[in-house]
Amino acid sequence: MTEPVRVGVVGMGTVGSGVVRLLVESADHIERHAGRRIVVERAVVKDVAKARSVPVPGGKISSDIRDISRDPSISVAALLVGGLEPARSMMIELLENGKDVVTANKALLAEHGPELFELARKHGRSIAFEAAVAGGIPIVAAIGECLAANRIESIRGILNGTSNFILTRMEEDGANYADVLKLAQQKGFAEADPSMDVDGTDATQKLAILAHLAFGVWVPWAEIPRTGIEGLDLDLLNYAGELGYRIRLVAVASRSDGKLAMRVAPALVKIGTPLAETRGAYNAVSIVGDAVGRMFFHGLGAGQMPTASAVVADIIDTVVGRAAITFRTTGLLAADSPAAKLADVDSHERHFLRINVSDRPGVLAKITGLLGDHGISIASVIQHAETASADAGVPLVIMTHACASSAVQKAVAAIDKSDVIRGKSVCLGVLDE
Ligand code: NDP
Ligand code: HSE
Repeated sequence: MTEPVRVGVVGMGTVGSGVVRLLVESADHIERHAGRRIVVERAVVKDVAKARSVPVPGGKISSDIRDISRDPSISVAALLVGGLEPARSMMIELLENGKDVVTANKALLAEHGPELFELARKHGRSIAFEAAVAGGIPIVAAIGECLAANRIESIRGILNGTSNFILTRMEEDGANYADVLKLAQQKGFAEADPSMDVDGTDATQKLAILAHLAFGVWVPWAEIPRTGIEGLDLDLLNYAGELGYRIRLVAVASRSDGKLAMRVAPALVKIGTPLAETRGAYNAVSIVGDAVGRMFFHGLGAGQMPTASAVVADIIDTVVGRAAITFRTTGLLAADSPAAKLADVDSHERHFLRINVSDRPGVLAKITGLLGDHGISIASVIQHAETASADAGVPLVIMTHACASSAVQKAVAAIDKSDVIRGKSVCLGVLDE
């Protein structure tokens, strides 16, 4: 009889517990796909005294990574610890001791991917990372393997489940931002440091990884312009709804003239379109390939079992040998990947503005005049008289016709300096296509 494959699980939080549960509860099914029994040999955690909702088979749980890295019976390690350190040192320890690694840690890959992949190659090991982007959606395999015949022209997606959960709970239930963020943390969607979810960092790191797979270039994630959802409030979501839109945190990468235009920012998406209908912790990715055309992927992008689904699929791929072949034969995250040439982000699209103005004669003329001075034409305006207050002024919501984002930003800067303004204006792009 073929010996079982023994797996070490590093980190038994939201994702690690889901992985152990799936490997134990679906062992027979998984064996059929892997061709061999896969067993959890041991887990390594930070605090061994912590109560675990999922027991480790045989009770083998400890806090020293060497209990996995130096155990010759273990061939595959699932590294499910977040952040950069000690995750990076753990990955190095595992690779140097001959373990193939599966991980969901996108921050680690976006920051140290080429260095770690180089090390894996040096030691003849593989790193698989399907769960690092878009949770349960098999987007890494889709771009890296299934769409390999295509020149990818663009990627557009919702890549952070926590932000999407917050935005949809606010728009659907009128929930308070801080309360929903807490709920996202309780549900296990958020990062240990949730500011990475809401400030756009997590989505940007995922976009950098997808851009590498799709365009073959390495993009330092911190160079990608990003804005999070922290500046949004319920009124903004309601005004967008009045105009027939939802607000989503959208990651975009598109190729044109040998350069990549990339950004992560909240944007208006038309109600009824797939991105607008992506709700809760769901993620969505729309890809345009030159042969296949537009494809759309949708599924849970965060949470225990959807993420465990992707991790366990990678463990199976590793056991079967597919991960090693992909790793050996493609230049995945190679240290000498060409650097991306990023285009200046000056999109030509409609813009949604909310400007708080004092409620007095001539104000509208002044604002439209300033927009006109910058060549910006107005498509529609909303002003609800009942929202006026002596201190905060009255919100004026403007939808522009398509114009350069650089022009609209200059106009908003001029508006914000004028004497009719009560508070900082908000300007969001509108993704009409
Ligand atoms: P959690 O915070 O829930 O779990 C982290 C685990 O790492 C805990 O079990 C913790 O141990 C362990 N750990 C932390 N430091 C150490 C250490 N020094 N030594 C040993 N173990 C340590 O995180 P998640 O499960 O949510 O996330 C894990 C990874 O998966 C992250 O990279 C995240 O970005 C990624 N991811 C998460 C998703 C999600 O929906 N949650 C979805 C997709 C990816 P202890 O339990 O003792 O504290
Ligand atoms: N914190 C991440 C999110 C987990 O909310 O999308 C999945 O990567």
